[in-house]
Amino acid sequence: MKFTLDTTPAPEIDTACLVIGVFEQTPLQGSAKLVDQACNGALQQLIDSGDVDTDWKSTTMLHGLEGVNAKRILVLGCGESEKFSSVRFDNVCSSAGAFLRDHATTSAHVCLNELEAGDMDSYWCLRQAAVNLDRANYRYTATKAPKDDDNEPMHSASFNAGEDMQAAIDEAKGVAKGYQRSRELGNLPPNICTPAYLAEIAREIANSYENVSVEILEEDEMARLKMEALLAVGRGSVNGSRLIVLKYNGADEDSRPVVMVGKGVTFDTGGISLKPSPNMEQMKFDMGGAAGVIGAFEACADIQLPINVVCVVAAAENMPGGNAYRPGDVLTSMSGKTIEVLNTDAEGRLVLCDALTYSQRFNPAALIDVATLTGACVVALGHHASAIMSKHDDLAEELIEAGQKAVDRGWRMPLWDDYQPQIKSGFADMKNVGGMAAGSITAGCFLSRFTTDQRWAHIDCAGSTWIWGSDKGSTGRPAGLLAQFLIDQAKQA
Ligand code: BES
Ligand code: MN
Ligand code: ZN
Repeated sequence: MKFTLDTTPAPEIDTACLVIGVFEQTPLQGSAKLVDQACNGALQQLIDSGDVDTDWKSTTMLHGLEGVNAKRILVLGCGESEKFSSVRFDNVCSSAGAFLRDHATTSAHVCLNELEAGDMDSYWCLRQAAVNLDRANYRYTATKAPKDDDNEPMHSASFNAGEDMQAAIDEAKGVAKGYQRSRELGNLPPNICTPAYLAEIAREIANSYENVSVEILEEDEMARLKMEALLAVGRGSVNGSRLIVLKYNGADEDSRPVVMVGKGVTFDTGGISLKPSPNMEQMKFDMGGAAGVIGAFEACADIQLPINVVCVVAAAENMPGGNAYRPGDVLTSMSGKTIEVLNTDAEGRLVLCDALTYSQRFNPAALIDVATLTGACVVALGHHASAIMSKHDDLAEELIEAGQKAVDRGWRMPLWDDYQPQIKSGFADMKNVGGMAAGSITAGCFLSRFTTDQRWAHIDCAGSTWIWGSDKGSTGRPAGLLAQFLIDQAKQA
């Protein structure tokens, strides 16, 4: 979607739809007040009579309001002004976007960025409004043609702000692009989105930016690097594994990069420890971590942030087969540490451990892996938060803060050494499962053994990256959290 800026007063602007926000029991402000003045108090009357709802997230479309140029006015209820927050603001913008899409509005002038959202500044409000409008207008068409009566998504939005806010909409464009990419990859079926397909997409991204390069490692190359853990996971599949390395160069050669590592299991059957059939199709989302890091990487390249970033994707398909790895196997990882496989369905940590070992060659300023790693994470946090684990309090806090700012939130879980004994093995340095208790944390503990001496964090996005239901699917998360983290790093640099 194209974003522009326009400071024409709301009553005068010529648009298919003017979008304003109103609070409950509060005098009208900003553009809403101007509209009310232009129509001689008709807006306030509609509110007083209950015909325009001011409840949080409610939507009312008004037509032909006298004294106002816009043909239609969409009024967003914002609820009580004391309760208004960044999260509530975010939801109001999403509601507006969904309503506009459902009502065949392909362009609009949006004044929601004027609303004060807690401690957030006007730059943030504008950026976030634009990102949410774009997200609400996402449409999946890759394998399903739109129906004739399907509305076109919005193609442009102008916002009530001056030219000094250009950077905010440029940033929004990049973040929106990152979300779109992540979501589309998540939604694509596993017969299309294979490890080789992810590699192709990475190539495309590299070709689109002068300061992005890509390297694709195939299985023979990974074998030379002794990535036995990663290779074991993909061995039962005819779709070969790939290690995808994207590099973005936005700062001096010697500036240490942020390295993001994504779990790219393009389908997770569980392998020989086969998953039950019901809902198994959801395991096409098992590359949500990879989609998230690729999306954030693309956002960074689009905005041209002044930092260096490396994105590593461990792409494999976990299938049963005559050549598949099995429970009881002991694998020697690239690090030299040995792993007893007790369950071939705990494969994410196996592809990640080798990718994490490999990533240390980039001398990361921060090393962050992102993965749909455990069902236990969905049990603990549901679909609302990603789990964040790190032994580095400062890094964990930066990630949580980025999640809050992006309204793509994470919540911390401990990585205390107390949990480590759960992955002790009698036959190897560790086993790949830690039992019933604290499943997300013991998965994090497993990864911690491959990242000693690194400023490392682990994000489990098993719940946040997709939502149940055929009309829902991928959310594109946590591309927003990660993109915000990179934006914040660039500000610090
Ligand atoms: N990809 C799954 C985790 C998952 C499950 C994500 C449900 C989203 C929804 C992962 O590979 C897995 O199967 N984990 C196992 C680990 C267990 C065998 C220790 C799990 O969570 O059951
Ligand atoms: Mn699994
Ligand atoms: Zn998995």
